[in-house]
Amino acid sequence: MSAPILRNLADLRAATRPWRRAGETIGVVPTMGALHDGHLSLVAAAKKTCERVIVTIFVNPRQFGSPEDLASYPRTETSDAAKLARFGVDAIYVPDGAEMYPEGFSTTVSVVGLTDVMDGIHRPGHFEGVATVVAKLFAQTSATDAFFGEKDFQQLQVVRRMARDLDIPITVHGCPTIREIDGLAMSSRNLLLSDRARTIAPVLPEQMQILADAVAEGRDFAAAQTVAIRTLEQAGFTGIDYLEMRANGDLSLLTAPTRPARLFAAAWLAGVRLIDNIAVEG
Ligand code: PAF
Repeated sequence: MSAPILRNLADLRAATRPWRRAGETIGVVPTMGALHDGHLSLVAAAKKTCERVIVTIFVNPRQFGSPEDLASYPRTETSDAAKLARFGVDAIYVPDGAEMYPEGFSTTVSVVGLTDVMDGIHRPGHFEGVATVVAKLFAQTSATDAFFGEKDFQQLQVVRRMARDLDIPITVHGCPTIREIDGLAMSSRNLLLSDRARTIAPVLPEQMQILADAVAEGRDFAAAQTVAIRTLEQAGFTGIDYLEMRANGDLSLLTAPTRPARLFAAAWLAGVRLIDNIAVEG
């Protein structure tokens, strides 16, 4: 059954009022649309956990670094709604820019520390945009639970910290990355890859796994990292923003997996920036 598409906050509040009065749990899955199986796994997790589920679709201009990147982000609302129909979600919230950021909007939510590394450096302002819109979505939906993919692991940690620091009464669930059959992490940005680039893209998770295995076997991180970067460049990646090992909890830089750790990468392929992360066995 198709869920109602709600385009403004008044309609969203009217929909959630009876659920809140009845004390029902409300799960929110924040997205920017162009839904793939990764998003749908979050929807499935929300359906399993919560009595009511809202999927939000909003291409948030405040988290994009350039107008070109914002303009090229895929927008596929009709097929997104069709994909959600089989999950029986209770509402799809699709506000526009004016609804989310009305005239005079002047507040920014900024999480320090966790955003001083990786995408916080390479995409200035990105996490302020994410934290601001997610804080608004939490307030607007009155959700008791929120579902985010581990694919954007730094984002997940930033959102968790933001919700904790602002005393927002919500449980943030991190859900495993869903991969294509060749290992490429599912992402709406994969739609922007040319056919040729799409065949090269799985070299990224492949090299990350080789690096993670080498580190788990006790090999020197820097030496194995150099080999991985060279292999990526030879395959056709034109810029590697980072390929690093960091602690799960506070994202501090590691050279050995002395604490629960992950490998994080961001790399450019034919004009598309791919990010990924995988666990490193200690
Ligand atoms: O991960 C995303 O799609 C976005 O960053 C989010 C969480 C929906 C905020 O705009």
